[in-house]
Amino acid sequence: MTTPTSFTRPEVEQRINELLGQMTLEEKIGQMNQELPHAPPQLDALRAGSVGLLITEVTALAGAGVDAAPEVRAEICNDLQRVAVTESRLGIPILFGRDVIHGYRTVFPIPLGMAATWSPQRMEQASAVAAAEASAAGVKWTFAPMLDIARDPRWGRIAESPGEDPFLGSALARAAVRGFQGDDFSRPDKLAACAKHYAGYGAAEGGRDYNFVDVSMRTLRDVYLPPFRAAVEAGAATLMSGFHDYSGVPVAANRTLLTDILRAEWGFQGFVVSDWNAIHELVVHGVAADDAEAAAKAVIAGVDMDMIAGVYPGQLAQQVRNGHMPLSVIDEAARRILRVKCLAGLFDQPYTDPDRAARVILAPEHRALARQIAQESCVLLKNADGLLPLKADSPFKRIAVFGPLAHGRSELLGTWTLDGRGEDVTSIADAIRQEAPKHFEIVTPSTLPDEALYHMLMGVDLVVLVMGEHPRRSSEAASVSSLELPAGQRQMIESVCDAGVPVVLGVLAGHPLAIKREVDLAQVVLYAWHPGTEGGYAIADLLFGKAAPSGRLPVTMPRATGQVPIYYNHRNTGRPAANRGDSSRYIDLPIAPLFPFGFGLGYTTFAYSDLRVIKRGASVEINAQVTNTGASAGIETVQLYVRDVVASVTRPVKELKGFQRLSLQPGETQRARFALSAQDLMFTGLDDRPVFEPGAFHVWVGSHSADCVRAAGAQGEFEL
Ligand code: BGC
Repeated sequence: MTTPTSFTRPEVEQRINELLGQMTLEEKIGQMNQELPHAPPQLDALRAGSVGLLITEVTALAGAGVDAAPEVRAEICNDLQRVAVTESRLGIPILFGRDVIHGYRTVFPIPLGMAATWSPQRMEQASAVAAAEASAAGVKWTFAPMLDIARDPRWGRIAESPGEDPFLGSALARAAVRGFQGDDFSRPDKLAACAKHYAGYGAAEGGRDYNFVDVSMRTLRDVYLPPFRAAVEAGAATLMSGFHDYSGVPVAANRTLLTDILRAEWGFQGFVVSDWNAIHELVVHGVAADDAEAAAKAVIAGVDMDMIAGVYPGQLAQQVRNGHMPLSVIDEAARRILRVKCLAGLFDQPYTDPDRAARVILAPEHRALARQIAQESCVLLKNADGLLPLKADSPFKRIAVFGPLAHGRSELLGTWTLDGRGEDVTSIADAIRQEAPKHFEIVTPSTLPDEALYHMLMGVDLVVLVMGEHPRRSSEAASVSSLELPAGQRQMIESVCDAGVPVVLGVLAGHPLAIKREVDLAQVVLYAWHPGTEGGYAIADLLFGKAAPSGRLPVTMPRATGQVPIYYNHRNTGRPAANRGDSSRYIDLPIAPLFPFGFGLGYTTFAYSDLRVIKRGASVEINAQVTNTGASAGIETVQLYVRDVVASVTRPVKELKGFQRLSLQPGETQRARFALSAQDLMFTGLDDRPVFEPGAFHVWVGSHSADCVRAAGAQGEFEL
């Protein structure tokens, strides 16, 4: 197991030993207690050392605090820090934590949109910008990256997730940790990361948030754990345990997950924080009679820090004193927290330079990156007759831009953007008006009663309809039972189509929605997620061809809600899914999704050829030619899928094992190369342990997960 070396520095351990030697039991437990800042501030608690951390936010509307959360400023954090450092007995600094999920004031696309870039590089850059801005405001710890694989899109928090695939999720996890922490998170512009919500939270039964999770240990290990392991290997300083009950044992009390796997198997040396009030909720789950039992179960399982419940300070000291709780458990938890504080550099530089915020926050280069990433996150699902991009010779001169989200500003920011502000955003309608080349006349009506709509449509050549979900419809505690567009939106697109005007449909959403009918009706469908501060301009850029779409779906898009859970890397069954006969299917719905995982169009086309599989010792090289067969430059995300044909347990019909983005000029050919070793082909075997079983593997290289059956992808086979 690779343990990030930075976690085990002798000088750090020595400092912690010295501190622990001087700390009272209450002071140690104080380190394990996270509180919200009160008004007036809890200065006495800081002086007494009974609060180790502050979470600088209010989440009364969890996940939906757009324009509503109180601001954080370096001066405020510094004032509190000064009390902890200069007026408490041992001067132990505070770690200020906040949800900095997909940007700070400069907001990037929601994490599912970030995942649609299929670009670890962009994830790293965006996380680095978020770290630079948040740290300038005094924050030193982010509750990100969120790494919950989600196969059921009814789950509202799919918006915050990396999507359905563990390989893509792991690549993004590593990148996010690198972006937030760099190789030394004591740097003033870096944050300690927190991989959450360990583990399996995205598998909530029925897609209902907070619901219990009953996937097998094999599925947990093969699908849900890999991104967390990747984050740990990348050096993530902390992890957050989930709210949920995994297989009968809520995670906040789950020693198998928090200690046996996380620490004994993976060697994690940072600390684990509970999710919000989750330790108290052990009582509600029904595995603890009261807060005393809840506190004991959580700390023994491996939860080092209590977020908000306040049960550690209330319960643990007495349990140690009366001999029910070994002091060593408290020492170990306090040690892990102090270790992260040391590595965060807080003992050496506890304060934030208050002048940095003005230089850093919303810096022009941050906005430029947000615009580029938003362009790259949009997935073009349909572009009939190559309608887009709209060039100067386009027959569509007069364009109307409207729809429920066309004038939205804070709506573009998406869920969990405590510090993003609608005032920083240009709406899609305004951005299109500003960016349209002279040739076009843009009209942007805001409210349209039926007759006015019909009248207006008589005079326009093209409609850009901006529809989809408000961020509060795809966030924490916001799961849906229907994946259709919100009420009334389909009727609106039908009315426009009835008038015979072609439609470019822009969809803003946190869920992958079931929009079959809308896709049939519209000429163009651009899935833009919630694209962040610069989303309006990014969409205008794509419309007028200043940029070409390159996003790819990080989740399968269902054709109807009744298909979910639906994901590409399912197992085969003994009667594999087909549209007829006694097969694993629905008799009232085709088996194929609306769009497969990995799918996305651009403004050019690509062809695959000459797949080669070359054995090189213990590994195998797989390469294929990719040619840009269209008339414009473009980025192709080349995807490698593998199937383990026969194994001791059933294996997925296909698994992503590699991807790379190739930038190709018209007519240009490049060879995409991948290498696979036994390590890459391991899975969880009969005894729930990782195993590699030699044998035959099928391999596909193509432009999405269904390409191999449908068209151009190249297919081969190898033995290892
Ligand atoms: C969420 C976490 C979040 C925490 C702190 C909880 O409700 O599940 O993702 O980090 O609140 O705001």
